[in-house]
Amino acid sequence: MERITVNTTPIDGQKPGTSGLRKKTEVFMGKHYLENFISAIWTGIGGASGKTFVLGGDGRYFNDRAAQVILRMAAASGAAKVIIGQNAVLSTPAASNLIRKRATDGGIIMSASHNPGGRDEDFGVKFNMANGGPAPEDVTNRMYEATKTITHYDILEAQDIDLATLGTTQLGDMEIEVVDPVSDYAELMESLFDFDKLRALFASGFTMRFDAMHAVTGPYATEIFERRLGAPQGSVLNGTPLPDFGKGHPDPNPIWAKPLVDLVMSDAAPDFAAASDGDGDRNMILGRGVYVTPSDSLAVLAANAHLAPGYASGLAGVARSMPTSQAVDRVAEALGLECFETPTGWKFFGNLLDAGRATLCGEESAGTGSDHVREKDGVWAVLLWLNILAETGASVKGLLADHWAKYGRNYYSRHDYEAVDATAANGMINALRAGLRTLPGQTFAAGKVAMADEFAYDDPIDGSRSEGQGIRIGFENGSRIVFRLSGTGTVGATLRVYLEAYENDPSKLDADAETALADVVESAEQIAGIKGATGREAPDVKT
Ligand code: G1P
Ligand code: ZN
Repeated sequence: MERITVNTTPIDGQKPGTSGLRKKTEVFMGKHYLENFISAIWTGIGGASGKTFVLGGDGRYFNDRAAQVILRMAAASGAAKVIIGQNAVLSTPAASNLIRKRATDGGIIMSASHNPGGRDEDFGVKFNMANGGPAPEDVTNRMYEATKTITHYDILEAQDIDLATLGTTQLGDMEIEVVDPVSDYAELMESLFDFDKLRALFASGFTMRFDAMHAVTGPYATEIFERRLGAPQGSVLNGTPLPDFGKGHPDPNPIWAKPLVDLVMSDAAPDFAAASDGDGDRNMILGRGVYVTPSDSLAVLAANAHLAPGYASGLAGVARSMPTSQAVDRVAEALGLECFETPTGWKFFGNLLDAGRATLCGEESAGTGSDHVREKDGVWAVLLWLNILAETGASVKGLLADHWAKYGRNYYSRHDYEAVDATAANGMINALRAGLRTLPGQTFAAGKVAMADEFAYDDPIDGSRSEGQGIRIGFENGSRIVFRLSGTGTVGATLRVYLEAYENDPSKLDADAETALADVVESAEQIAGIKGATGREAPDVKT
């Protein structure tokens, strides 16, 4: 086994985005591409020498090959040990749990989350810190700087490691421990939720469908819902992970998980349904005849989390990403909890969770989580919903109706314009930015503008400042429009327009969301001129 130093040169565009580095798989498979970035990770974290890492991914195409490269590079860079999920698979929350539970120095997760997988689709790599959470911006900036100056990387010349067999092996001086990807995670879930109560729920005939979308949560869901909780076989759909996710788009929203939404709206609807994404950190919640927006889900969970044993003593505080609807703010106010508004991306919750200032966090993009790990967590969100339903005996629809009656309803939708010309998209945002000062006081279809700014976040824990986090326009009646460009897209620019309208008139809580938001949508067009800037008549995706 020989340690070799390979000469290389910087490769453009290796800047980690909202969640690590995501590119087309072919790009990642290109000469030195993965190796350069892994080497930059070592530089960004102050070297790999003597450290222990967790490694795993969502099982997408190239996951297995990339794992072998990363192992050989870790060994050549002096890492003491790598704990890796069997066949190099770990869901993102399971990886976060292992990083924390085994007191490691961090971990590498190979995933492009909800982006499609396959040779012609997307791949990604991200680094999580010792707290189990995504690397903060100062660390990812150091990684990016390292990609711009790299001259060489170290790698071991060795045969592939057998990653199918559980147990410990050696690669040069480095130890490799292949672990079952599910068992530690399932144990964590048992510690948070009332599994006896959930078993009783399923035994009483409660029906559920969980769509794993041929992605990483299949084995987790089958073990937890079917084996441990006794949900009938077949409760988990598409439970076999595939490298191309069965050519699907593993994003749990009404567009990509449409068959599940159709099911809950049909006569054959189960009591409860849910789906998760490529790497298992996102969730979609459905009940018989109802889709729960992620923003509403966060609010309902915040209001009821104390019903689950893991949260029985109440919440320290809650946090939501800026574009997420303000529904949870109302719950926090009623419960006297601190409520934080952070930039998009899970990494901004880490400090709040570590400092014990927030217990529950969420994003409008189907991400919900708590201080049990430092990532959002799809299966966890499903279990918390189930635990609340088991305790209250309510239906999803009933729980939601009660919630709106108490707090009012934040109608919400996100419109995405994908693969837009980057110059045009940036031009539109620049024009909005330039006009911000003139907006307050002006009246549009949605009402009178109360505030308009570009969101910047001052982290209350470490004092760091993140600027340019999206354009916010708030109306006097509580409506809101947010414009931002995606940090995870891989082609051109993706424009996201977040639309929200607040309603507390009891007779208007049951409207169709599209109708309730029509004035806000019209105002977004009036203010930003989206059609002209993007050349699109309508968004590509509405969630
Ligand atoms: C998107 C979501 C964001 C989420 C991220 C990673 O980022 O909007 O909430 O944290 O994916 O899953 P964006 O593409 O908007 O930068
Ligand atoms: Zn994900």
